Amino acid sequence: MEHLKVAIGSDHGGFRYKDSIIDYLKLRNIEYVDVGTYTPESCDYPVIARKVAEKVISGEVDRGILVCGTGIGMSISANKVHGIRAALCCDTYSARVSRAHNNANILCLGERVIGEHLALDIVDIWLKTGFEGGRHKRRVDIIE
Ligand code: RB5
Repeated sequence: MEHLKVAIGSDHGGFRYKDSIIDYLKLRNIEYVDVGTYTPESCDYPVIARKVAEKVISGEVDRGILVCGTGIGMSISANKVHGIRAALCCDTYSARVSRAHNNANILCLGERVIGEHLALDIVDIWLKTGFEGGRHKRRVDIIE
């Protein structure tokens, strides 16, 4: 895996998976910034999504991971930030292709939708997969 720095955030709905993903990142010596939330208390996912998105856009980190109950609120919010390509993934195929074809720079996950081990497999594949470029670059450039 190329040397990556990742920003990770969740609301209360994704709080537990955020911790499991952080354990995964530590195990693999992947550098990360945890933008919160830091307690299980209810909080607003758009605020967290914005923090992760801004770190990706500023170049402070290479990629971001966001977890909420469904992953939907996080993906809607993150994709409001210009230059963000946030992919909500519930399966490993989408995770791989979101990187290979869409050059997704944020992965969104739903803690209330998929199992924890699947979420960790998705993270693993998403972090390992590179952008294929070529015709896919042309399409990503059109988005921008
Ligand atoms: C919080 O209850 C829930 O709405 C949030 O985690 C997320 O699922 C929003 O999309």
